[in-house]
Amino acid sequence: MKILILSFSNNTVNKDSFIPNEKGLTLACVDECINLLKEKNTNIEYICMNKKNIKKCMACGERGWGICLEQHKCAMNDDFNEIYNSMSNYDGYIFITPVYFWEMSESAKTFFDRLKRCDAFNDESKLRNKKFMAIACAGGSGNGTENTLQAFDVFNHFMKMDMIGRLPVTRFNFEEQKEEMKECISKF
Ligand SMILES: Cc1cc2nc3c(=O)[nH]c(=O)nc-3n(C[C@H](O)[C@H](O)[C@H](O)COP(=O)(O)O)c2cc1C
Repeated sequence: MKILILSFSNNTVNKDSFIPNEKGLTLACVDECINLLKEKNTNIEYICMNKKNIKKCMACGERGWGICLEQHKCAMNDDFNEIYNSMSNYDGYIFITPVYFWEMSESAKTFFDRLKRCDAFNDESKLRNKKFMAIACAGGSGNGTENTLQAFDVFNHFMKMDMIGRLPVTRFNFEEQKEEMKECISKF
């Protein structure tokens, strides 16, 4: 089984978000998922999306649609098409984003905006019915995790994938959410 993990935070160290190991919460979740998947002998690919060049959608064509609607690829020349095409090689996905302003991070929004455009109306989609889990990592109160996860519900509505888990994670519930991650990962 091949699983692709995409994370949408740049932080390697964030003392505000995750104590005691001073690792950002998003990356702590990435590490936890990798460890759990290794126990299942999974083939894992991990991409930190903030290190990729993915521009915002320009809504470039007529009536707000570019070639994405019919050709199912993006007209822009950056890292998006390569990552989108490579997604068909995986059996499942884990999307891990920090919560910013009660939403998924900017890099996550930018990527999922373009993914929806290219794939939501693609009858030949290789992502249809594939399993994914979404993890929303929030600081302090945890406010905004539900709003962020609801955006993934909407994403799933359009993409018609199989959402096997939606996890709100804070530094306070991280330990208990590890169990939830394990439970979700067992469904892959
Ligand atoms: C621009 C910005 C906006 C944020 N907005 C929220 C928020 O709305 N709710 C919240 O609980 N935390 C918020 N935070 C805190 C982050 O969610 C928190 O630091 C989280 O752990 C980020 O993941 P990281 O540890 O991987 O950086 C915000 C942080 C930043 C930098």
